[in-house]
Amino acid sequence: EPEVIRDKAAMRAWARRRRAEGKTVALVPTMGFLHDGHLSLVSAAAAAASATSPVAVVVSIYVNPSQFAPTEDLATYPSDLAGDLRKLAATGAVAAVFCPPDLYVRAGAGGSGGAVSCLEEAGCGDGHETWIRVERLEKGLCGSRRPVFFRGVATVVAKLFNIVEPDIAVFGKKDYQQWRVICRMVRDLDFAIDIIGSEIVREADGLAMSSRNVHLSHEEREKALSIHRSLVNAKTAALNGNNHSQQIKDQIVQTLTEAGGQVDYVEIVEQESLVALERIDRPAAICVAAWFGKVRLIDNMEIQTH
Ligand code: PAJ
Repeated sequence: EPEVIRDKAAMRAWARRRRAEGKTVALVPTMGFLHDGHLSLVSAAAAAASATSPVAVVVSIYVNPSQFAPTEDLATYPSDLAGDLRKLAATGAVAAVFCPPDLYVRAGAGGSGGAVSCLEEAGCGDGHETWIRVERLEKGLCGSRRPVFFRGVATVVAKLFNIVEPDIAVFGKKDYQQWRVICRMVRDLDFAIDIIGSEIVREADGLAMSSRNVHLSHEEREKALSIHRSLVNAKTAALNGNNHSQQIKDQIVQTLTEAGGQVDYVEIVEQESLVALERIDRPAAICVAAWFGKVRLIDNMEIQTH
């Protein structure tokens, strides 16, 4: 049974004790409502164990208000803490679950204020005013649609890093830009943490697992399969020698639109820098965001060129 820890200071003390015992501490940050994608990160964290250093895996569950804009789905973000704890216990690989009621100090609330979608809107100057911005990487792709998103993600992840002080942290490539933003933050700010990027876990029919999939109707879910289908076709085209990004993007947009999706963006970028590529002549990632009904889904596929 994993230990359930709610308090920051208790979490830090617990992790320091594990390190003093010679363990490698591995952190898996999540917002809960866990699925097999999240659990694959737990496996990846557990797999970092070596003969000389066993791993203590910590999973954090915290729906971070500062990464949601006021218009976004903070209020309806799904949660099921009891179910999450059961799933994590069943892995047998989790030593502790960190589920703080709040991570920010809020104005006049002593840290226990109600949910606010964006701390800036709530007057963060009183309770919280320090933000991490990964200035260029946070701007493109999802960042251009969700301007406060990566600021909120980078800041809360830095807070979690300072609380848990892990040796390793695992992120899913499902959120490709998020993973790259965190890698860059760690590099730029000298966090002594190895970041592991873990492969996307999909349903049997190809849909990338996401906590938001529960909001899809049966019909929307069928339509959403066009995302994976269009990515697979794009990758095939690229590997068969079509290196014209525009042609490949047009094809993806057409497939998604014909399926009834509303395209948010389709971009082909260089893997590490996320710079848009006109030609697919180096390791690239095809990144897609599209709406199906009221649900915004993201997905991507890496293409390794020679
Ligand atoms: P959340 O959406 O809960 O995702 C937690 C982690 O699980 C992220 O690293 C995400 O990339 C990974 N993940 C989600 N679905 C996946 C899938 N199908 N395959 C592989 N990995 C998957 O991402 C967040 O939470 C938050 O932004 C967070 C980093 C916790 C900061 O608040």
